[in-house]
Amino acid sequence: MKLLVTGGAGYIGSHTVLELLQAGHEVVVLDNLCNSSLESLRRVQAIAGRSLLFVEGDIRNRTLLDQLFAQHQIDAVVHFAGLKAVGESVRKPLDYYASNMAGTLTLCQAMADAEVFRLVFSSSATVYGDPARVPASEESPVTNPSSPYGRSKLMVEQLLQDLQCSDARWSIGILRYFNPVGAHSSGLIGEDPLGLPNNLLPYLSQVAIGKLDCLQVYGNDYPTPDGTCVRDYIHVVDLALGHLRALQFISSRRGCEVWNLGAGKGYSVLQVISAFEQASGRTVRYVFGPRRAGDIAANWAEPSKAACELGWKAERSLANMMADTWRWQSMNPQGYR
Ligand code: NAD
Ligand code: WQD
Repeated sequence: MKLLVTGGAGYIGSHTVLELLQAGHEVVVLDNLCNSSLESLRRVQAIAGRSLLFVEGDIRNRTLLDQLFAQHQIDAVVHFAGLKAVGESVRKPLDYYASNMAGTLTLCQAMADAEVFRLVFSSSATVYGDPARVPASEESPVTNPSSPYGRSKLMVEQLLQDLQCSDARWSIGILRYFNPVGAHSSGLIGEDPLGLPNNLLPYLSQVAIGKLDCLQVYGNDYPTPDGTCVRDYIHVVDLALGHLRALQFISSRRGCEVWNLGAGKGYSVLQVISAFEQASGRTVRYVFGPRRAGDIAANWAEPSKAACELGWKAERSLANMMADTWRWQSMNPQGYR
């Protein structure tokens, strides 16, 4: 297939583009590079031994999208582009609704006009908010995401459902990722946050490499076995492979389906630190701090819908996720720079 991948230079996008190229697909990446570097795609092409077409631009640029769809016979769009920092979304809601919500709207309008009706969308477990019951299944309520970021994802999900209801030609896969971590086993591509990391694994690995002094564990008084929060960490390569399965699925039938992409298992922050120390052979300095606003005690996925319908499940263990994170961090102490 010939695929348009928006946000393909980013963390999850670059890993997915690599798997798509290795599976023989043709790839056009559209990315404005606001949170990524072209170096990721140079390395993706080197690993795959195949090239892709890169277009620098914004998903809100309708003229550019129309040109892209006119120039290329696109079979499906894999849509990663958007902003993803929960805390920043509270401070800059307009940026988040513009990029995530209005951006997706513009993309869908351009797709409809170009008669490209297949779309895989990056949603998030954040749409479950603080779930009344874990594991969260696709049927769990999604009424109360706790940030503008989460609400922008939920609004897009609703837009896509409405769109498919209005026109049966659409075939849409909504993927709710849990906590993506890890890196490609080559150590050549990985997560490269700008500035101070917000998420656990980039922070932890920057402490281990000596770039940051000490990890603050946000809260040890949660109602969990060791008092720290529990999450469903999923290896980014497993996640990438989930997109290939979703593409296969939406290419064979119409509709709008939602799938959780998670491992179906929860680990606490302390378990993650311990697994990382084992994988890296380094001691990670940490202190307990107060809870972080908006954090929930525990969430992990009920992953059986993806297993049944996509034939997909997460294969890579926590030890594997930690080893691959450490390989990427130690081979690239300055990320792509
Ligand atoms: P990322 O920031 O590494 O990748 C996003 C990419 O989109 C970047 O390359 C960025 O430059 C590009 N981009 C942003 N806004 C754009 C715009 N308006 N036009 C064109 N390009 C634009 O993030 P990621 O971790 O790879 O996440 C990819 C997608 O998955 C996002 O939609 C994110 O919300 C979603 N997601 C991520 C996580 C996570 O923890 N990483 C979890 C759940 C869902
Ligand atoms: C994991 C755990 C923290 C940093 C976020 C988004 C979610 C999704 C995935 C996009 C939590 C603890 C963290 C630190 C810590 N993204 N922690 N010290 O919050 O589960 O999910 O990323 O869709 O929407 O909210 O991930 O990696 O930030 O935190 O103790 O310095 O690590 O409290 O328990 P989170 P995270």
